[in-house]
Amino acid sequence: MDKEISGLEGRFLIETGEKKMKENVWYVRGTSSYGHFSKNLEGMIKVEAGKGNMLAKSDTEIKEYIESGNSILALCNGNVVGFVCLINYTDSVEIAALIVNSEYRGMGIGIKLAKQLMYLSKNIYPNKLVIMFANEISSHIAIKLKFVIVDKEILDNEFWDLCNDCPEFVNFPDCHCKPMMLM
Ligand SMILES: CC(C)(COP(=O)(O)OP(=O)(O)OC[C@H]1O[C@@H](n2cnc3c(N)ncnc32)[C@H](O)[C@@H]1OP(=O)(O)O)[C@@H](O)C(=O)NCCC(=O)NCCS
Repeated sequence: MDKEISGLEGRFLIETGEKKMKENVWYVRGTSSYGHFSKNLEGMIKVEAGKGNMLAKSDTEIKEYIESGNSILALCNGNVVGFVCLINYTDSVEIAALIVNSEYRGMGIGIKLAKQLMYLSKNIYPNKLVIMFANEISSHIAIKLKFVIVDKEILDNEFWDLCNDCPEFVNFPDCHCKPMMLM
């Protein structure tokens, strides 16, 4: 069943992917029908985590984000080529684990994933702040989506718990992630 989500630049149908967004790439809201893509995504994320670009996530965690409806997937010819998920905190939500298959980068998929997750978050968590921990590349996407960099110190400790798994945590707060907030 489609669910229409109001966006900042018009309206998108994203629940089941009936809207073709670019070439053969479809953007769908994760549901249990897409849970089987978690293994593939775990592998993609592991490669980027190894380069220090993002935190690793287990197959189980990813499946949970997909099946709970808190994620957007980009699909092409029956394969998953991109992913982003929403992590729910007390007063905020985080746009997290943004990733695009290396062969599909530079085509606008990453920004569309992030944008659609923003629409989703405004729809299901309308009163929460939207946060993103960006690296050098994803900060370009965040700036285009009107996020601004904020001080690490202003964010609650609950955000930093996840960072315990980051190899750069020993350098905190002088680590490379930029906390960014949607204004
Ligand atoms: C970050 C990532 C998801 C971007 O996906 P993408 O589909 O290639 O990004 P898009 O094509 O939508 O690019 C959107 C904008 O980001 C910027 N951008 C994208 N790739 C860039 C790069 N390699 N260097 C600098 N800017 C870049 C550009 O400003 C681009 O806009 P433009 O095309 O109008 O100039 C992808 O590079 C990726 O999966 N990287 C590895 C995982 C990662 O680092 N995730 C972020 C975790 S915080």
